[in-house]
Amino acid sequence: MERAFSIFVISLSRRSPGEGGRIRVSFFVISAFACPAVVPRLRDESGCFVICFPFCASCVTFPFMRRAIYPGSFDPITNGHLDVIERARKLFDEVVVAVAHNDEKQPLFSLKDRLDLLRETAGKIDNVRIAEFEGLLVEFARKEEAGAVIRGLRAVSDFEFEFQMALMNRKLDAAVETIFLMPKEEYTYLSSRIVKEIARLGGDVSAFVPVLVARALAIKLKKNISTK
Ligand code: PNS
Repeated sequence: MERAFSIFVISLSRRSPGEGGRIRVSFFVISAFACPAVVPRLRDESGCFVICFPFCASCVTFPFMRRAIYPGSFDPITNGHLDVIERARKLFDEVVVAVAHNDEKQPLFSLKDRLDLLRETAGKIDNVRIAEFEGLLVEFARKEEAGAVIRGLRAVSDFEFEFQMALMNRKLDAAVETIFLMPKEEYTYLSSRIVKEIARLGGDVSAFVPVLVARALAIKLKKNISTK
């Protein structure tokens, strides 16, 4: 009587969280009474012991998710942020846009407003998720199993602060890599701070932020600014 049953051997290989990796599924047939036509030599005369025979070793691999965190105050989100998100999402399976609580910065928009604006803009983009975090960025990255932190680098003036932050984060957790992405040249002079200043002074910010954000700024600052 021929008896055959199969097992799947699933091996996981991953270097560090969020870095990506492979799940390998190897298919072996363990034949208690191996078919003599296939493995005549391996078959015991009595046919009473198990021969493990890789009858079919088909290896199928599934990639792990590569996840990156794009942290910031996003007070409010600008077209420059959206440009960085677009670039990052092409490099990673998932980009988590993470709003820092950062109360010491005295943001114009409340945390809820900043999250709502992000959800209505960046949150609509494929493989982008909106989240909030409190405390250390590296702790949040660990919790999210993200292997990278994305930061936009606009000009040399950004460099000193970003360099310090990247190295400090590396010191805190060497597994979290910082990746700098450069936005389009037309956004290199753009920042949330400058957009708020223009809006406060009644200037038109429609070229720098999504319509929704321009409206939110107008309401917040009670200015009659153009939102097209
Ligand atoms: O948009 P911002 O304000 O430049 O973002 C700064 C942010 C939120 C990324 C930074 O302040 C931060 O990472 N805060 C979390 C606290 C932390 O981890 N500090 C140590 C990093 S050196």
